[in-house]
Amino acid sequence: MSPSMIPPDSDPVGRADRPLTIVVDGAEMQGVSGQTLASVLLAAGRSHWRTAPNGTPRGVFCGIGICFDCVATVNDVPDIRLCRRPARDGDTIATQTRVFEEER
Ligand code: FES
Repeated sequence: MSPSMIPPDSDPVGRADRPLTIVVDGAEMQGVSGQTLASVLLAAGRSHWRTAPNGTPRGVFCGIGICFDCVATVNDVPDIRLCRRPARDGDTIATQTRVFEEER
């Protein structure tokens, strides 16, 4: 059995999943402490949250902080890589787009 499959209440090291709530474009999403912001969004069914200059959707690509495909504005700070940022209760995420106004 892998460690991730041990229920929190029977974990011998005392792990306890602490729930957290983030807000993404005004919508609340639930996660647990230890997840990245990207994993909270993915678990909620969001596969993308950014639009590239050519209009194509972007989300997690590398998952390790290399590609910058997963960036969003977190607590008013733009260009945060959601695959690297641990989720904290109360985080507010605003999705970003790089589509130029005249191309919309
Ligand atoms: S998915 Fe590549 S930097 Fe986040």
